[in-house]
Amino acid sequence: MEKEIKAIILAAGKGKRMHSTIPKVLHEIFSKPLLGWVIEAIQRLGHETESIVVIGHQSHDVEDYLNNNYKYVKTTFQKDQLGTGHAVAQAVPLLSQFRGTVIITCGDTPLITTKTLKNLIRFHQDNDSDLTVMTTRFDDPTGYGRIIRSSKDEILTIIEEKDATETQKEIQEVNTGVYCAKWTKIRHAFAELNNNNAQGEYYLTDIVRWSRKQGLKVLGYEIKDNREIYGINSRRNLSYATELMNQRKLEELMDSGVTIVDPKTTYISPETEIGQDTIIYPNTYINGKNKIAKFCKIGPMTHIRGNCEVGEESKIGNFVELKNAKIAKKTNVCHLSYVGDAQIGSNVNIGAGTIFANYNSITKEKKGSTLSDGVSIGSNSVIVAPVEIKQNAFVAAMSCVTKDVEESSLVMTRGPQKEIKNWVKNKKGEKLNESRTGNTNGEIGKDTSNS
Ligand code: UD1
Ligand code: CA
Repeated sequence: MEKEIKAIILAAGKGKRMHSTIPKVLHEIFSKPLLGWVIEAIQRLGHETESIVVIGHQSHDVEDYLNNNYKYVKTTFQKDQLGTGHAVAQAVPLLSQFRGTVIITCGDTPLITTKTLKNLIRFHQDNDSDLTVMTTRFDDPTGYGRIIRSSKDEILTIIEEKDATETQKEIQEVNTGVYCAKWTKIRHAFAELNNNNAQGEYYLTDIVRWSRKQGLKVLGYEIKDNREIYGINSRRNLSYATELMNQRKLEELMDSGVTIVDPKTTYISPETEIGQDTIIYPNTYINGKNKIAKFCKIGPMTHIRGNCEVGEESKIGNFVELKNAKIAKKTNVCHLSYVGDAQIGSNVNIGAGTIFANYNSITKEKKGSTLSDGVSIGSNSVIVAPVEIKQNAFVAAMSCVTKDVEESSLVMTRGPQKEIKNWVKNKKGEKLNESRTGNTNGEIGKDTSNS
């Protein structure tokens, strides 16, 4: 089972600089906690890759999140945050039987990709390394541990900023905080670490020196794109990481044949798939998991909130919000509409200002509605869930649909139009009479605005 992989994710720190009442790793990018992005990057290595998360600060909240969302995750509790080495030590008892490869990483670096983790593991295994440290370079390496190499491949030690000499501080190659190791070779290190350093902490980085002392092979694997290990310590970092994650997604979409008219004002979650030759217009926000097919037009100013599907050649226009909506092909929702919890067929036209009323605020229940192919909904209508509107039915403008509608029917719920001929002219005439005679007994059109 040497090929088996498990991960240890460090997430016990407080994240003081967030100035927050929620734990740092639960802050979100595209509505997913930082820790979730890291766990999912690991899970994509193999469906059942287990992560052991070291929790400490507000551990109950973090644990609840993990239990509610992930199956292959275990937690271990670090009561006092005595350092990164001490954090990993808390995971050792859970891995006493484990003989495979361990990845160690942090819960606050959400930009790490599965591809990079795969490359790291491949490098580690191809070179028969015992411990591989993932490194990268920064023009300004301030704050990071510096990599001291003994040769092109091998690493001698890692020196933390606070322990570094002036010459060492000039080294631009840094420790990313991501490691890959043969677990049986390094697991004894954690009981032997000390805290004789500037910060009085048990440094995880000291496993490099420890491993070398044991005669183990310690290699450095350098990645070019240092944005992948961008860590979040503050709200500013959080917004920059959001920008980076978004940028990466937009570039990937454009490279695959999607037009993004204005990347500066467009946000698309990495979890959304978009087909070729679809055009995304400015000020569009697409969050969560969605599938948008080929040849669609989305935006400007569209908000897609997740769990949505949009079929080929459909149009979702300005000030339209979609949530949990499955829309088939050649359907238009072009202006000012809310479509939530709905199943909509093809060639459907949803008129401007249509609202799918899906939520009962008293029972707190959400219900869905279904519209079959060819349905037409007139402007300013309300579809009160649950209703089913069958094929080719026509809902007149300003209808409030509360019951199912048969195929090809016309539904109209507004009052019939009433017209009173010459009403305006007569009213003006009356006014004139009033002022002449002082008579205020008007009939229709009596001005009651002052009463
Ligand atoms: C660490 C590395 C540094 C590297 C940098 C990369 C050490 C000693 N230094 O420094 O070489 O360049 O990461 O980002 O490892 N944590 C715990 N328990 C603890 C301490 C920390 O769970 O007792 C967690 C934190 O929540 C965080 C991660 O470990 O997710 C890293 O800790 P942090 O204190 O930020 O380490 P750095 O000083 O950034
Ligand atoms: Ca850090």
